[in-house]
Amino acid sequence: METKEDILILAIESSCDETAASVVKNGRNVLSNIISSQIELHTLYGGVVPEIASRKHIEKINQVIEEALREANVTLNEITAIAVTYGPGLVGALLVGVSAAKAISFATGKPLIGVHHIEGHISANFIENKELEPPFVCLVVSGGHTHLVIVRDYGVYEILGYTRDDAAGEAFDKVARAIGLGYPGGPKIDKISKEGNPDAIQFPRAKVDGSNYDFSFSGLKSAVLNYLNSCEMKGIEVNRADVAASFQRAVVDVLVEHSLNAVKEYGFDQFAIAGGVASNSSLRAAFEAECGKRKIAFFHPSPIFCTDNAAMIGVAGYYEYIKGTRSGYDLNAVPNLRLGTVGK
Ligand code: KG4
Ligand code: ZN
Repeated sequence: METKEDILILAIESSCDETAASVVKNGRNVLSNIISSQIELHTLYGGVVPEIASRKHIEKINQVIEEALREANVTLNEITAIAVTYGPGLVGALLVGVSAAKAISFATGKPLIGVHHIEGHISANFIENKELEPPFVCLVVSGGHTHLVIVRDYGVYEILGYTRDDAAGEAFDKVARAIGLGYPGGPKIDKISKEGNPDAIQFPRAKVDGSNYDFSFSGLKSAVLNYLNSCEMKGIEVNRADVAASFQRAVVDVLVEHSLNAVKEYGFDQFAIAGGVASNSSLRAAFEAECGKRKIAFFHPSPIFCTDNAAMIGVAGYYEYIKGTRSGYDLNAVPNLRLGTVGK
């Protein structure tokens, strides 16, 4: 039962190919989490088509918001504030969510809060891990981003490293396409890898000169493509499960090494992962084992809160709300919005 003192955030997310809305109570209690995925539609084209994504968001957004309110058993009148992802992401897709949030805010007179998508991914960790509080180190690995971040406080981030080229999820998607697994590649590589030998092929573990914490995945992707080409030229049949497992091992090794070096170097005892790739079973198992050995508390969201959703935006929106963050009606979609107040 909701009381007058409860802070209820209606959250909206539409930065890529999921139209999502959620109601979050007092920061960590998810009352509803509605996600309308367009994956099947984009599968036809082997990836997200921005124009189609925007059109689908427009078709779905009102329905998804109504469903989120209904499932939470909350009326617009009872909502405290509206939080919405305003970047980074596809500009046309973001605009649909931002416009809907502005319209609701204007019509109800409730405050509007623009939320950074990555801040949302990080905040997904607070939903099921009630004991987790900053500071901690967080690795954000999604289709568009690979960031190693110190979460100094709620909403205060220091970026230690990021990818210089492809995001981790992008590498998964491209390699999956190359070995004929289709889109989206991450979950398919995860699955087929279970039947493969991760030591079958030695793919490179890329280092970025002069930086301990930056990532680079395009060399690894090229190494996989070269391997496939050379097999074809030599008439050798490719074992797709071995290629997938060996590629996945190379990505996991680099992510684990960089992340845990940062945890040690900066003297933290808590570590979290976030973003679509954070649901990868091999990545989770590796962090579970390595954090266990080093007495680091390891946190991760359930898969449903790893891929894009609005509950994570509601959590981030709550912490922004109590800090006093408010957006004006001039809030705009910012496709390349940067994270962080400290660091790069
Ligand atoms: O966070 P997300 O839903 O969207 C972005 O903000 O980008 O992440 C989607 C990405 C895709 O690249 C997808 O292939 C990847 O997450 N992904 C995975 C797995 N599940 C989703 N990658 C590896 N293993 C998985 N199990
Ligand atoms: Zn995302």
